[in-house]
Amino acid sequence: MSKRVYINTIGCQMNVYDSERIVNSLIPLGYETTPSVESADLIITNTCTIREKAEQKAFSFLGRLAKLKRKNKDLIIAVGGCVAQQQGQTILKRMSHVDLVFGTRALGRLPLAIEKIAKQRCRIVDVDMSSSLEDEALQSHVLKADTVSKFVTIMRGCDNFCAYCVVPHVRGREISRDPALIIKEIEQLVNEGVREVTLLGQNVNSYGKKEGLCTFVELLSRINTIEGLSRIRFTTSHPKDLSGELINAFGSLEKLCNHLHLPIQSGSNRILKRMNRKYTREAYLTKVAELRVACPEISITTDIIVGFPGETLADFEDTLSLIRQMRYDSLFVFNYSDRPLVPSRKFTPKVPEKDKNTRLQQVLDVQKTITEEIHAARVGQTMPVLVEGHSKRQKMEYSERIDTPLQWSGRTTCNKIVNFIADGSTKAAPADFTGETVCVSIERALSHSLWGKLKEKASDCSALKGDRSYAA
Ligand code: 5AD
Ligand code: SF4
Repeated sequence: MSKRVYINTIGCQMNVYDSERIVNSLIPLGYETTPSVESADLIITNTCTIREKAEQKAFSFLGRLAKLKRKNKDLIIAVGGCVAQQQGQTILKRMSHVDLVFGTRALGRLPLAIEKIAKQRCRIVDVDMSSSLEDEALQSHVLKADTVSKFVTIMRGCDNFCAYCVVPHVRGREISRDPALIIKEIEQLVNEGVREVTLLGQNVNSYGKKEGLCTFVELLSRINTIEGLSRIRFTTSHPKDLSGELINAFGSLEKLCNHLHLPIQSGSNRILKRMNRKYTREAYLTKVAELRVACPEISITTDIIVGFPGETLADFEDTLSLIRQMRYDSLFVFNYSDRPLVPSRKFTPKVPEKDKNTRLQQVLDVQKTITEEIHAARVGQTMPVLVEGHSKRQKMEYSERIDTPLQWSGRTTCNKIVNFIADGSTKAAPADFTGETVCVSIERALSHSLWGKLKEKASDCSALKGDRSYAA
Protein backbone atom coordinates (compact mmCIF):
# COMPACT_ATOMS: atom_id res chain seq x y z
CA MET A 1 0.00 0.00 0.00
CA SER A 2 1.30 3.44 -0.81
CA LYS A 3 2.24 5.82 1.98
CA ARG A 4 1.32 9.48 2.07
CA VAL A 5 3.61 12.47 2.42
CA TYR A 6 2.44 16.00 3.22
CA ILE A 7 4.93 18.77 2.50
CA ASN A 8 4.68 22.34 3.78
CA THR A 9 6.96 24.73 1.90
CA ILE A 10 7.84 28.08 3.43
CA GLY A 11 10.19 30.65 1.88
CA CYS A 12 11.78 31.30 -1.46
CA GLN A 13 11.53 29.72 -4.90
CA MET A 14 14.55 27.58 -4.17
CA ASN A 15 12.59 25.92 -1.39
CA VAL A 16 9.73 25.31 -3.85
CA TYR A 17 12.22 23.66 -6.20
CA ASP A 18 13.78 21.62 -3.37
CA SER A 19 10.36 20.47 -2.16
CA GLU A 20 9.62 19.08 -5.61
CA ARG A 21 12.94 17.21 -5.53
CA ILE A 22 12.16 15.89 -2.06
CA VAL A 23 8.77 14.54 -3.09
CA ASN A 24 10.34 13.07 -6.21
CA SER A 25 13.05 11.29 -4.26
CA LEU A 26 10.45 9.63 -2.03
CA ILE A 27 8.51 8.00 -4.88
CA PRO A 28 10.81 4.91 -4.91
CA LEU A 29 10.01 4.47 -1.21
CA GLY A 30 6.31 4.21 -2.11
CA TYR A 31 5.24 7.71 -1.02
CA GLU A 32 2.67 9.81 -2.82
CA THR A 33 1.68 13.35 -1.87
CA THR A 34 -1.48 14.13 0.04
CA PRO A 35 -3.11 17.55 0.48
CA SER A 36 -4.37 16.50 3.93
CA VAL A 37 -1.95 16.81 6.82
CA GLU A 38 -4.18 14.60 9.04
CA SER A 39 -3.95 11.63 6.69
CA ALA A 40 -0.16 11.77 6.17
CA ASP A 41 2.32 9.07 7.22
CA LEU A 42 5.19 11.49 6.75
CA ILE A 43 5.05 15.28 7.25
CA ILE A 44 7.90 17.43 5.95
CA THR A 45 8.30 21.14 6.66
CA ASN A 46 10.71 22.90 4.34
CA THR A 47 11.65 25.98 6.31
CA CYS A 48 13.00 29.50 5.77
CA THR A 49 14.94 31.70 8.16
CA ILE A 50 15.47 34.87 6.15
CA ARG A 51 13.36 36.90 8.59
CA GLU A 52 12.13 36.10 12.07
CA LYS A 53 8.54 35.86 10.84
CA ALA A 54 9.35 33.01 8.46
CA GLU A 55 11.01 31.09 11.28
CA GLN A 56 8.03 31.67 13.59
CA LYS A 57 5.74 30.35 10.87
CA ALA A 58 7.73 27.11 10.73
CA PHE A 59 7.71 26.61 14.50
CA SER A 60 4.01 27.36 14.82
CA PHE A 61 3.24 24.76 12.13
CA LEU A 62 5.57 22.24 13.79
CA GLY A 63 3.96 22.90 17.18
CA ARG A 64 0.55 21.96 15.80
CA LEU A 65 1.90 18.58 14.68
CA ALA A 66 2.49 17.32 18.24
CA LYS A 67 -1.23 16.48 18.49
CA LEU A 68 -1.07 14.34 15.33
CA LYS A 69 1.98 12.49 16.61
CA ARG A 70 0.18 11.66 19.87
CA LYS A 71 -2.63 10.09 17.83
CA ASN A 72 -0.31 8.19 15.49
CA LYS A 73 3.00 6.98 16.87
CA ASP A 74 4.15 5.77 13.42
CA LEU A 75 3.89 9.24 11.93
CA ILE A 76 7.31 10.57 10.81
CA ILE A 77 7.89 14.31 11.20
CA ALA A 78 10.82 15.84 9.32
CA VAL A 79 12.14 19.40 9.23
CA GLY A 80 14.30 20.53 6.33
CA GLY A 81 15.61 23.75 4.80
CA CYS A 82 17.24 26.81 6.29
CA VAL A 83 15.93 26.72 9.87
CA ALA A 84 16.93 23.03 10.01
CA GLN A 85 20.41 23.90 8.79
CA GLN A 86 20.81 26.70 11.27
CA GLN A 87 19.38 25.03 14.35
CA GLY A 88 20.08 21.31 13.81
CA GLN A 89 20.06 19.40 17.08
CA THR A 90 18.28 22.24 18.92
CA ILE A 91 15.06 21.42 17.04
CA LEU A 92 15.12 17.81 18.27
CA LYS A 93 15.72 19.03 21.81
CA ARG A 94 12.97 21.63 21.58
CA MET A 95 10.37 19.39 19.92
CA SER A 96 10.17 15.79 21.07
CA HIS A 97 7.73 14.87 18.28
CA VAL A 98 10.24 15.70 15.52
CA ASP A 99 12.08 12.65 14.11
CA LEU A 100 14.38 14.12 11.49
CA VAL A 101 16.21 17.41 10.89
CA PHE A 102 17.86 17.65 7.49
CA GLY A 103 19.85 20.63 6.25
CA THR A 104 20.05 22.41 2.92
CA ARG A 105 22.70 20.04 1.55
CA ALA A 106 21.21 16.79 2.82
CA LEU A 107 18.52 16.35 0.18
CA GLY A 108 20.20 13.37 -1.46
CA ARG A 109 20.48 11.51 1.84
CA LEU A 110 16.84 12.07 2.80
CA PRO A 111 15.33 8.78 1.48
CA LEU A 112 17.89 6.72 3.41
CA ALA A 113 17.21 8.67 6.59
CA ILE A 114 13.43 8.20 6.24
CA GLU A 115 13.85 4.47 5.67
CA LYS A 116 16.07 4.16 8.72
CA ILE A 117 13.59 6.04 10.93
CA ALA A 118 10.67 3.92 9.66
CA LYS A 119 12.58 0.71 10.53
CA GLN A 120 14.39 1.68 13.72
CA ARG A 121 12.28 4.55 15.09
CA CYS A 122 15.51 6.49 15.68
CA ARG A 123 15.92 10.28 15.53
CA ILE A 124 18.35 11.81 13.05
CA VAL A 125 20.04 15.18 12.48
CA ASP A 126 21.86 15.65 9.17
CA VAL A 127 23.21 19.17 8.67
CA ASP A 128 26.44 18.17 6.95
CA MET A 129 27.30 20.81 4.34
CA SER A 130 30.34 19.13 2.88
CA SER A 131 28.51 17.19 0.16
CA SER A 132 28.98 18.23 -3.44
CA LEU A 133 25.98 19.17 -5.57
CA GLU A 134 26.14 15.84 -7.34
CA ASP A 135 25.30 14.05 -4.09
CA GLU A 136 22.23 16.08 -3.57
CA ALA A 137 19.83 14.25 -5.83
CA LEU A 138 19.69 17.58 -7.62
CA GLN A 139 20.43 15.74 -10.80
CA SER A 140 17.68 13.18 -10.29
CA HIS A 141 15.13 12.64 -13.03
CA VAL A 142 12.72 15.44 -13.76
CA LEU A 143 9.26 15.48 -12.26
CA LYS A 144 6.06 15.40 -14.21
CA ALA A 145 5.56 19.04 -15.06
CA ASP A 146 2.08 20.24 -14.19
CA THR A 147 2.57 23.91 -14.99
CA VAL A 148 3.65 26.02 -17.93
CA SER A 149 6.37 27.71 -15.92
CA LYS A 150 8.98 25.97 -13.77
CA PHE A 151 11.97 26.86 -11.59
CA VAL A 152 15.37 25.38 -12.34
CA THR A 153 18.15 25.78 -9.78
CA ILE A 154 21.46 26.56 -11.50
CA MET A 155 23.55 27.31 -8.43
CA ARG A 156 23.35 27.21 -4.68
CA GLY A 157 24.81 29.18 -1.82
CA CYS A 158 26.22 32.66 -1.69
CA ASP A 159 29.67 34.22 -1.17
CA ASN A 160 28.58 37.83 -0.74
CA PHE A 161 28.02 38.17 2.99
CA CYS A 162 25.71 41.16 3.06
CA ALA A 163 25.68 42.28 6.69
CA TYR A 164 22.00 41.41 7.29
CA CYS A 165 21.76 38.13 5.41
CA VAL A 166 21.62 34.63 6.82
CA VAL A 167 21.81 32.90 3.41
CA PRO A 168 25.60 32.30 3.25
CA HIS A 169 25.36 30.80 6.74
CA VAL A 170 22.55 28.37 5.94
CA ARG A 171 23.04 27.68 2.24
CA GLY A 172 26.83 27.59 2.29
CA ARG A 173 29.33 28.79 -0.29
CA GLU A 174 28.41 29.24 -3.94
CA ILE A 175 28.41 26.11 -6.12
CA SER A 176 27.22 26.01 -9.73
CA ARG A 177 25.62 23.08 -11.50
CA ASP A 178 27.07 21.62 -14.67
CA PRO A 179 25.55 23.43 -17.69
CA ALA A 180 24.97 20.13 -19.53
CA LEU A 181 22.77 18.89 -16.68
CA ILE A 182 20.85 22.16 -16.56
CA ILE A 183 20.18 22.01 -20.31
CA LYS A 184 19.10 18.37 -20.05
CA GLU A 185 16.71 19.21 -17.23
CA ILE A 186 15.15 22.07 -19.21
CA GLU A 187 14.82 19.92 -22.34
CA GLN A 188 12.97 17.31 -20.29
CA LEU A 189 10.69 19.97 -18.83
CA VAL A 190 9.92 21.28 -22.31
CA ASN A 191 9.01 17.74 -23.39
CA GLU A 192 6.56 17.72 -20.49
CA GLY A 193 4.87 20.87 -21.78
CA VAL A 194 6.81 23.56 -19.90
CA ARG A 195 7.24 26.79 -21.90
CA GLU A 196 9.00 29.08 -19.41
CA VAL A 197 11.83 28.49 -16.97
CA THR A 198 13.09 30.69 -14.17
CA LEU A 199 16.74 30.00 -13.41
CA LEU A 200 17.42 30.19 -9.69
CA GLY A 201 20.51 31.14 -7.76
CA GLN A 202 21.30 33.55 -4.93
CA ASN A 203 23.60 35.46 -7.28
CA VAL A 204 23.23 34.18 -10.84
CA ASN A 205 25.72 36.72 -12.22
CA SER A 206 28.60 34.77 -10.77
CA TYR A 207 27.37 31.48 -12.24
CA GLY A 208 30.21 29.12 -13.21
CA LYS A 209 33.03 31.51 -12.28
CA LYS A 210 34.51 29.50 -9.44
CA GLU A 211 34.30 26.16 -11.19
CA GLY A 212 35.54 27.55 -14.50
CA LEU A 213 32.32 26.46 -16.19
CA CYS A 214 30.76 28.71 -18.84
CA THR A 215 29.62 32.23 -17.91
CA PHE A 216 26.01 32.99 -17.02
CA VAL A 217 25.45 34.68 -20.37
CA GLU A 218 26.89 31.69 -22.22
CA LEU A 219 24.47 29.48 -20.26
CA LEU A 220 21.58 31.79 -21.18
CA SER A 221 22.60 31.71 -24.86
CA ARG A 222 22.57 27.92 -24.85
CA ILE A 223 19.18 27.76 -23.14
CA ASN A 224 17.91 30.31 -25.67
CA THR A 225 18.37 27.71 -28.43
CA ILE A 226 16.22 25.03 -26.78
CA GLU A 227 13.40 24.29 -29.17
CA GLY A 228 9.90 24.55 -27.72
CA LEU A 229 10.97 26.80 -24.87
CA SER A 230 9.30 30.23 -25.14
CA ARG A 231 10.71 32.23 -22.25
CA ILE A 232 13.65 32.45 -19.87
CA ARG A 233 13.66 34.33 -16.58
CA PHE A 234 16.19 34.34 -13.79
CA THR A 235 16.57 35.50 -10.24
CA THR A 236 18.43 36.94 -8.33
CA SER A 237 21.07 39.34 -9.60
CA HIS A 238 23.44 41.23 -7.37
CA PRO A 239 23.80 44.78 -8.78
CA LYS A 240 27.58 44.81 -8.24
CA ASP A 241 27.97 41.79 -10.56
CA LEU A 242 25.53 42.87 -13.27
CA SER A 243 27.92 42.72 -16.22
CA GLY A 244 27.87 44.60 -19.52
CA GLU A 245 27.62 41.19 -21.19
CA LEU A 246 24.38 40.43 -19.33
CA ILE A 247 23.00 43.91 -19.98
CA ASN A 248 23.57 43.35 -23.71
CA ALA A 249 21.94 39.91 -23.50
CA PHE A 250 18.65 41.64 -22.67
CA GLY A 251 18.85 43.29 -26.03
CA SER A 252 19.88 40.23 -28.00
CA LEU A 253 18.48 36.98 -26.60
CA GLU A 254 14.93 36.81 -27.88
CA LYS A 255 13.66 34.36 -25.25
CA LEU A 256 15.05 36.31 -22.32
CA CYS A 257 12.11 38.13 -20.75
CA ASN A 258 11.97 41.90 -20.41
CA HIS A 259 12.19 41.80 -16.67
CA LEU A 260 14.99 42.09 -14.18
CA HIS A 261 14.72 41.76 -10.43
CA LEU A 262 17.56 43.91 -9.13
CA PRO A 263 17.47 44.27 -5.34
CA ILE A 264 18.81 47.66 -4.20
CA GLN A 265 17.93 47.29 -0.47
CA SER A 266 18.52 51.01 0.30
CA GLY A 267 18.87 54.29 -1.55
CA SER A 268 21.40 55.67 0.95
CA ASN A 269 25.11 55.19 0.24
CA ARG A 270 25.85 55.27 3.94
CA ILE A 271 23.46 52.39 4.60
CA LEU A 272 24.58 50.46 1.50
CA LYS A 273 28.11 50.60 2.88
CA ARG A 274 27.00 49.35 6.30
CA MET A 275 25.06 46.58 4.54
CA ASN A 276 28.28 45.56 2.74
CA ARG A 277 26.50 45.74 -0.61
CA LYS A 278 29.64 46.91 -2.49
CA TYR A 279 27.90 49.34 -4.85
CA THR A 280 26.68 52.91 -4.58
CA ARG A 281 23.35 54.39 -5.51
CA GLU A 282 25.08 56.12 -8.45
CA ALA A 283 26.69 52.90 -9.75
CA TYR A 284 23.31 51.16 -9.56
CA LEU A 285 21.60 53.96 -11.49
CA THR A 286 24.32 53.94 -14.16
CA LYS A 287 23.85 50.20 -14.74
CA VAL A 288 20.08 50.65 -14.93
CA ALA A 289 20.51 53.46 -17.49
CA GLU A 290 22.65 51.14 -19.64
CA LEU A 291 20.05 48.41 -19.28
CA ARG A 292 17.27 50.76 -20.41
CA VAL A 293 19.30 51.65 -23.49
CA ALA A 294 19.94 47.97 -24.33
CA CYS A 295 16.31 47.03 -23.71
CA PRO A 296 13.96 50.06 -23.53
CA GLU A 297 10.94 47.91 -22.63
CA ILE A 298 12.58 46.32 -19.60
CA SER A 299 10.63 46.24 -16.37
CA ILE A 300 12.67 46.40 -13.21
CA THR A 301 11.63 45.26 -9.75
CA THR A 302 13.49 45.37 -6.47
CA ASP A 303 13.76 44.48 -2.78
CA ILE A 304 13.99 47.15 -0.08
CA ILE A 305 14.84 46.77 3.59
CA VAL A 306 13.57 49.52 5.90
CA GLY A 307 14.88 50.18 9.39
CA PHE A 308 18.38 48.73 8.97
CA PRO A 309 20.33 49.56 12.18
CA GLY A 310 21.42 53.19 12.03
CA GLU A 311 18.98 54.16 9.23
CA THR A 312 18.10 57.82 9.87
CA LEU A 313 15.16 59.69 8.42
CA ALA A 314 17.55 61.27 5.90
CA ASP A 315 18.76 57.79 4.82
CA PHE A 316 15.18 56.67 4.46
CA GLU A 317 14.35 59.78 2.38
CA ASP A 318 17.17 58.67 0.04
CA THR A 319 15.41 55.34 -0.38
CA LEU A 320 12.10 57.06 -1.20
CA SER A 321 13.78 59.37 -3.71
CA LEU A 322 15.53 56.42 -5.35
CA ILE A 323 12.22 54.57 -5.73
CA ARG A 324 10.70 57.70 -7.36
CA GLN A 325 13.70 58.08 -9.64
CA MET A 326 13.79 54.40 -10.62
CA ARG A 327 10.06 54.04 -11.19
CA TYR A 328 10.15 50.33 -10.43
CA ASP A 329 7.36 48.22 -11.87
CA SER A 330 6.88 46.73 -8.41
CA LEU A 331 8.87 45.97 -5.30
CA PHE A 332 9.06 43.89 -2.16
CA VAL A 333 9.72 45.78 1.06
CA PHE A 334 10.74 44.23 4.37
CA ASN A 335 11.23 45.46 7.90
CA TYR A 336 14.83 44.77 8.91
CA SER A 337 14.96 41.67 11.09
CA ASP A 338 17.90 40.62 13.27
CA ARG A 339 19.06 37.12 12.32
CA PRO A 340 21.39 34.76 14.14
CA LEU A 341 25.00 34.72 12.90
CA VAL A 342 24.76 37.89 10.81
CA PRO A 343 27.05 40.88 11.54
CA SER A 344 24.25 43.49 11.60
CA ARG A 345 22.83 41.82 14.68
CA LYS A 346 25.43 43.75 16.62
CA PHE A 347 24.93 47.06 14.76
CA THR A 348 23.32 49.97 16.60
CA PRO A 349 21.18 51.98 16.99
CA LYS A 350 18.27 49.67 16.25
CA VAL A 351 15.29 51.33 14.60
CA PRO A 352 12.09 50.93 16.69
CA GLU A 353 9.48 48.54 15.21
CA LYS A 354 6.86 51.28 14.96
CA ASP A 355 9.22 53.43 12.84
CA LYS A 356 9.96 50.45 10.60
CA ASN A 357 6.23 49.93 10.11
CA THR A 358 5.71 53.60 9.21
CA ARG A 359 8.59 53.53 6.72
CA LEU A 360 7.37 50.27 5.19
CA GLN A 361 3.93 51.78 4.63
CA GLN A 362 5.46 54.92 3.09
CA VAL A 363 7.41 52.77 0.62
CA LEU A 364 4.26 50.84 -0.29
CA ASP A 365 2.31 54.09 -0.81
CA VAL A 366 4.94 55.64 -3.09
CA GLN A 367 5.26 52.44 -5.12
CA LYS A 368 1.49 51.94 -5.41
CA THR A 369 1.11 55.21 -7.31
CA ILE A 370 4.02 54.36 -9.62
CA THR A 371 2.73 50.84 -10.36
CA GLU A 372 -0.74 52.20 -11.06
CA GLU A 373 0.66 54.78 -13.48
CA ILE A 374 2.74 52.13 -15.27
CA HIS A 375 -0.28 49.83 -15.50
CA ALA A 376 -2.59 52.63 -16.71
CA ALA A 377 -0.18 53.37 -19.57
CA ARG A 378 -0.71 49.81 -20.82
CA VAL A 379 -4.46 50.28 -21.42
CA GLY A 380 -5.13 50.25 -25.16
CA GLN A 381 -1.94 48.29 -25.94
CA THR A 382 -1.75 44.77 -27.31
CA MET A 383 0.55 42.56 -25.29
CA PRO A 384 1.80 39.01 -25.79
CA VAL A 385 0.77 36.79 -22.91
CA LEU A 386 2.02 33.29 -22.12
CA VAL A 387 -1.12 31.59 -20.84
CA GLU A 388 -0.69 29.68 -17.59
CA GLY A 389 -4.29 28.44 -17.25
CA HIS A 390 -7.67 29.57 -16.04
CA SER A 391 -7.71 32.65 -13.89
CA LYS A 392 -8.04 31.94 -10.18
CA ARG A 393 -11.37 33.65 -9.78
CA GLN A 394 -14.03 33.90 -12.41
CA LYS A 395 -15.72 37.27 -12.10
CA MET A 396 -19.06 37.10 -10.30
CA GLU A 397 -20.75 39.17 -12.97
CA TYR A 398 -20.18 36.38 -15.48
CA SER A 399 -20.53 33.31 -13.33
CA GLU A 400 -24.33 33.10 -13.36
CA ARG A 401 -24.64 33.29 -17.11
CA ILE A 402 -24.78 30.13 -19.16
CA ASP A 403 -22.65 31.73 -21.87
CA THR A 404 -19.99 32.67 -19.31
CA PRO A 405 -16.75 33.31 -21.11
CA LEU A 406 -13.88 31.49 -19.49
CA GLN A 407 -11.27 33.69 -17.87
CA TRP A 408 -7.66 32.92 -18.60
CA SER A 409 -4.53 34.05 -16.88
CA GLY A 410 -0.94 34.49 -17.93
CA ARG A 411 2.00 36.83 -17.85
CA THR A 412 3.55 39.33 -20.15
CA THR A 413 7.26 39.12 -20.82
CA CYS A 414 7.62 42.05 -18.40
CA ASN A 415 6.04 39.84 -15.73
CA LYS A 416 2.63 41.50 -15.44
CA ILE A 417 -0.25 39.19 -14.65
CA VAL A 418 -2.93 39.50 -17.33
CA ASN A 419 -6.39 38.03 -16.86
CA PHE A 420 -8.44 37.94 -20.02
CA ILE A 421 -11.51 36.53 -21.66
CA ALA A 422 -11.77 34.96 -25.05
CA ASP A 423 -15.47 35.28 -25.77
CA GLY A 424 -17.53 34.66 -28.93
CA SER A 425 -16.80 38.12 -30.25
CA THR A 426 -13.29 36.98 -31.14
CA LYS A 427 -12.45 34.50 -33.83
CA ALA A 428 -10.76 32.24 -31.32
CA ALA A 429 -12.34 28.85 -30.73
CA PRO A 430 -12.99 27.98 -27.09
CA ALA A 431 -9.86 25.88 -27.10
CA ASP A 432 -7.36 25.38 -24.31
CA PHE A 433 -4.84 28.21 -24.47
CA THR A 434 -2.59 26.86 -21.73
CA GLY A 435 1.05 27.09 -22.79
CA GLU A 436 0.31 29.27 -25.81
CA THR A 437 1.50 32.81 -26.36
CA VAL A 438 -1.51 34.92 -27.33
CA CYS A 439 -2.13 38.61 -27.98
CA VAL A 440 -4.33 40.39 -25.49
CA SER A 441 -5.80 43.90 -25.84
CA ILE A 442 -5.45 45.51 -22.46
CA GLU A 443 -8.71 47.16 -21.39
CA ARG A 444 -8.31 47.78 -17.68
CA ALA A 445 -5.46 48.42 -15.27
CA LEU A 446 -5.70 47.11 -11.72
CA SER A 447 -3.20 47.49 -8.85
CA HIS A 448 -1.68 44.05 -9.21
CA SER A 449 -2.72 42.94 -12.67
CA LEU A 450 -4.07 43.91 -16.07
CA TRP A 451 -7.35 42.84 -17.62
CA GLY A 452 -8.14 42.39 -21.27
CA LYS A 453 -9.59 40.50 -24.18
CA LEU A 454 -7.97 37.94 -26.42
CA LYS A 455 -7.12 39.43 -29.79
CA GLU A 456 -5.53 36.53 -31.58
CA LYS A 457 -2.79 33.99 -31.39
CA ALA A 458 0.58 35.68 -31.17
CA SER A 459 1.78 34.02 -34.37
CA ASP A 460 -1.08 35.75 -36.26
CA CYS A 461 -0.78 39.08 -34.54
CA SER A 462 0.61 41.70 -36.87
CA ALA A 463 1.01 44.14 -33.97
CA LEU A 464 3.75 41.92 -32.59
CA LYS A 465 5.67 40.91 -35.66
CA GLY A 466 9.26 41.84 -35.11
CA ASP A 467 8.80 42.24 -31.38
CA ARG A 468 11.78 40.40 -29.92
CA SER A 469 9.96 39.96 -26.64
CA TYR A 470 7.63 37.51 -28.23
CA ALA A 471 8.91 34.07 -29.05
CA ALA A 472 6.03 31.83 -30.12
N1 5AD B 1 15.80 41.47 7.38
C1 5AD B 1 14.90 41.93 6.47
N2 5AD B 1 14.93 41.61 5.17
C2 5AD B 1 15.90 40.77 4.75
N3 5AD B 1 16.19 40.29 3.54
C3 5AD B 1 17.26 39.49 3.65
N4 5AD B 1 17.69 39.45 4.91
C4 5AD B 1 16.86 40.25 5.63
C5 5AD B 1 16.78 40.64 7.00
N5 5AD B 1 17.66 40.20 7.89
C6 5AD B 1 15.43 40.63 2.33
C7 5AD B 1 16.32 41.30 1.29
C8 5AD B 1 16.48 40.22 0.25
C9 5AD B 1 15.17 39.51 0.34
C10 5AD B 1 15.13 38.14 -0.23
O1 5AD B 1 14.93 39.46 1.74
O2 5AD B 1 15.62 42.40 0.76
O3 5AD B 1 16.73 40.73 -1.05
FE1 SF4 C 1 14.66 31.64 3.10
FE2 SF4 C 1 16.98 32.37 2.10
FE3 SF4 C 1 16.64 29.90 2.85
FE4 SF4 C 1 15.36 30.80 0.67
S1 SF4 C 1 17.59 30.59 0.94
S2 SF4 C 1 14.48 29.57 2.26
S3 SF4 C 1 14.93 32.92 1.32
S4 SF4 C 1 16.65 31.72 4.16
